[in-house]
This record gives sequence, C-alpha cells and structure tokens, in this order.
Amino acid sequence: MFSSLRLLVMCAVLAAFLHHTQAWWLDTWWYGYRKAALPGNRCEIIEDRRSCDSCGYPIDVTIMVKNELTDSPFKLEETIQQEPQQTLIRFLEKAVEQGNSFHNFTATYYQNLGYSIESINGLSGNSSTYWKISSLPSKADLLCGVTTYVPEHGEILLFDLTPINVTYHS
Ligand SMILES: *[C@@H]1O[C@H](CO)[C@@H](O)[C@H](O)[C@H]1NC(C)=O
Ligand SMILES: *[C@@H]1O[C@H](CO)[C@@H](O)[C@H](O)[C@H]1NC(C)=O
Ligand SMILES: *[C@@H]1O[C@H](CO)[C@@H](O)[C@H](O)[C@H]1NC(C)=O
Repeated sequence: MFSSLRLLVMCAVLAAFLHHTQAWWLDTWWYGYRKAALPGNRCEIIEDRRSCDSCGYPIDVTIMVKNELTDSPFKLEETIQQEPQQTLIRFLEKAVEQGNSFHNFTATYYQNLGYSIESINGLSGNSSTYWKISSLPSKADLLCGVTTYVPEHGEILLFDLTPINVTYHS
C-alpha cells in the first residue's frame, strides 16, 4: 500500500517536472534546435510592414484636423502620398508616422463597426462634442467609420470637432 502510494507520488512529481520542462526539451529533442523567433518576437518594423491583400493602387490622401471649440483652437493638414489605397485608419497611422503635425490619436474598437476615433493630438470629444469626419470638397459626412471607409485619390478627409446637436424637449 505504502509503496504504491510512493510510486504514485513519484509519478506525479515526474509528470509535473516533464510538464514544466517539456517546452524546451521536447522541442529540442523532437523538432531539433530551430532558431525561430519566439511568438512574441514576430514583429515587423513599422516602415517595412508588408502590404495588405485588399490594397489598391498608390493614392494621395490629405487628413485635415480642425478644432474651433476649445480655448486653444488648431488646424492641421497632413498629406500622405503614394500610399496603397486602403481603409482610412491606415492613412491616419501614416499621418502620425510622418512625424509632422499629426502626433497621435486614440480609438475604441466596436463589434461590426470597427474603430471610433476618440482623441486627436490629445483632444477628445466629450458628452457634447465629437470628431465628425467629412469628405472635401463635397463636405459629405462619412456614412461609415475609419475602419471601413476607403478614400479615393486626391480626397481630403476632415476631422472636425463638432457639437452634438441635441434637441431638448421640455
Ligand atoms: C465639451 O467640450 C467643449 C469644448 O472644449 C466645451 O465647451 C464644453 O463645455 C464641454 N462640455 C462638457 C459637458 O464637458
Ligand atoms: C498627443 O499629442 C499632443 C499634441 O501634440 C501632445 O500634447 C500629447 O502629449 C500627445 N499624447 C501622447 C500620449 O503622447
Ligand atoms: C440642430 O437641430 C435643430 C432641430 O433639429 C435644427 O433646427 C438645427 O438646424 C440644428 N443645428 C445644426 C447646427 O445642425
């Protein structure tokens, strides 16, 4: 009885040991040594990101940002040149990467909608303002968000901090 219990404990200890170590010794013994990057190291350099499947021909797109609502209003314009046609959020990323006046943005990802832009250059909308996106020169508001909208060559996308038009019924 005692010896079979001891055997059981030894087996459990051995199993625990193998479980803990198998990650390296099993790989080395079974697959041979491979100088593969760890999963967490499979990073591409931002400038060298491979092009996406759904990209089109290179186009020029201008991102304009306008804020006239706060005490420190600003306006900026960033043109991204000869970038494969793809969704708007990729052009926003490029605008930041150009390192000029568009420094950063934040967004929240929603199911079926994609990213919603929350702040640009540190300025967020609040309960009564939001970053409205429209297309110039037509001034048409976008009917979808930055994850699904695909700009055309020469298009200007205006991000304008805009009051939410709330009508109160008294
Ligand atoms: C929202 O931001 C605008 C512009 O800065 C400001 O005038 C307004 O008072 C803010 N509203 C709230 C509810 O914080
Ligand atoms: C975002 O950009 C604004 C404007 O340049 C800057 O003041 C702010 O510190 C930046 N935010 C972060 C998190 O870098
Ligand atoms: C806000 O809404 C009211 C009522 O729907 C409308 O009459 C007004 O033109 C709107 N204002 C703006 C700036 O859109």
